[in-house]
Order: sequence, then C-alpha cells, then structure tokens
Amino acid sequence: MEFNGRRFFLSTLIGSAFAGFAYITARMLGLQKVIQPASARTLEIETDLISGITFFDEVIACKSSDRIRFFSSKCPHLGCKITKEQNGEIVCPCHGSRFSAEGRLLSGPAKSSLSELQFSFQNNRYIVNYGSEN
Ligand code: FES
Repeated sequence: MEFNGRRFFLSTLIGSAFAGFAYITARMLGLQKVIQPASARTLEIETDLISGITFFDEVIACKSSDRIRFFSSKCPHLGCKITKEQNGEIVCPCHGSRFSAEGRLLSGPAKSSLSELQFSFQNNRYIVNYGSEN
C-alpha cells in the first residue's frame, strides 16, 4: 500500500513536471492561442437616405428630420441580427427585445440598448464604422 502511494506520488510529480515543460515549450514556440480582435469595417451610405428606420446588413440607420444615428444590428441579448421594425420600434426577431429609434432599450430580455456606431461624412456619403463593437 505504501509502495502504491509512493508510486502515485512520483507519477503525479513526473506528470506535472512534463505538463509544465510542455506548456513552457508551447509558449516559447508561440503556440498559445491568439485572440484576434474583431475586424473593424465600414459601410458607405448615401446621404439621401429616407427618414425612418432602415436596415442594412449589420447596421441600422435611424434618420429623423434633424438627426441621423447608426446602430449595430447585433442584438445585445444573444446577438441575433435585428431586421424588423414595428410601429416605429426596432424589434429583435429572436426573443422580442424592443428598442426605440434612438437605440434605447424599451423591453427585454435584452438588458442594454443598441450599440451606437461612429460615422463620418465624406463625398455625400455617411461612412459608418462597424464590426468592432461588443
Ligand atoms: S437575441 Fe435579441 S432578444 Fe434575444
């Protein structure tokens, strides 16, 4: 019994040493997992966009008479793509979270508002940056 206990201890010690050696070697060789940041992309939208809520693939444009804002179409709940408007509200098709045209959370299950996107204005186009949020 004592022999088995010593054998177990030695095999555990050798196994741990080997695992540590393998980890250090992998780190030295650059084999550790590399986490890539989400790639930022841009979307160009003509400035003569109609007023109201317009859905692009990954961008939602909300234009009123005096302002335009852009939001990510990725739902802050579980990430579904939001493609639906109902009675002037932005509605997630997956679980029904609702957002105002200002991107503000109206009802869950989402716990936060839509991510607002930065944009610039060039050559009569809005240049919307997306893909790096969340
Ligand atoms: S993913 Fe949009 S409400 Fe759940």
